[in-house]
Amino acid sequence: MKFFLDTANLDELRKAAAWGIVDGVTTNPSLIAKEGVAMEDQIRRICDIVDGDISAEVVSTEANEMIREGRKLAKIHKNVVVKLPLIREGIKACSILSKEGIRINVTLCFSGGQALLAAKAGAYIISPFIGRLDDIGTEGMNLIRDIVTIYRNYNFPTQVLAASLRSPLHVVESAKAGAHIGTMPFKVIDMLFNHPLTDKGLDQFLKDYNKVFQETTVLSK
Ligand code: E4P
Repeated sequence: MKFFLDTANLDELRKAAAWGIVDGVTTNPSLIAKEGVAMEDQIRRICDIVDGDISAEVVSTEANEMIREGRKLAKIHKNVVVKLPLIREGIKACSILSKEGIRINVTLCFSGGQALLAAKAGAYIISPFIGRLDDIGTEGMNLIRDIVTIYRNYNFPTQVLAASLRSPLHVVESAKAGAHIGTMPFKVIDMLFNHPLTDKGLDQFLKDYNKVFQETTVLSK
């Protein structure tokens, strides 16, 4: 499973990239706005930090405008993946841009039928939003399972990116369901490290070691 960071914050990206486990980045207009830097500039900076797929989303809602914006975003860096919303105009733009060789991440997917549309339009990535489905009282993870099954049935090459992941459990369940990619905020990737038995075990190892070898060092001096 590839790990993407769902943030446009450069400090968070640097910290997680230093662990050597970040395969890419997803952004959206809300995340870019939070950083207060123009989309193209921030995407360029992100590409300098992480060497992997970097999703940059269009803000137009009309196909011709999306295509113009998408071509411009794709020119920023070879790693840019253009993100389009799963609306009629977005699917139209996806079909055209995909044929030009521009890689498309179709976002805001909330059903298997929508995922089929994206795959048929040649999407490189589909982004089903788990947390937002949980928020309205539906089991978001079922959508990941459904899309993985549907794509496998027809050998669609579109990668399933589990998005809107809010907890380590979401990450593990997405991996079990066979999602190719999980995108998560820094807080979630950081939480994946935590286990009380790891801390307790390490504490004991070091206590045991230091008890013997610190005394030996003192004696041998
Ligand atoms: C992914 O591409 C989306 O930007 C993101 O996962 C949305 O997450 P949220 O529902 O927590 O805002």
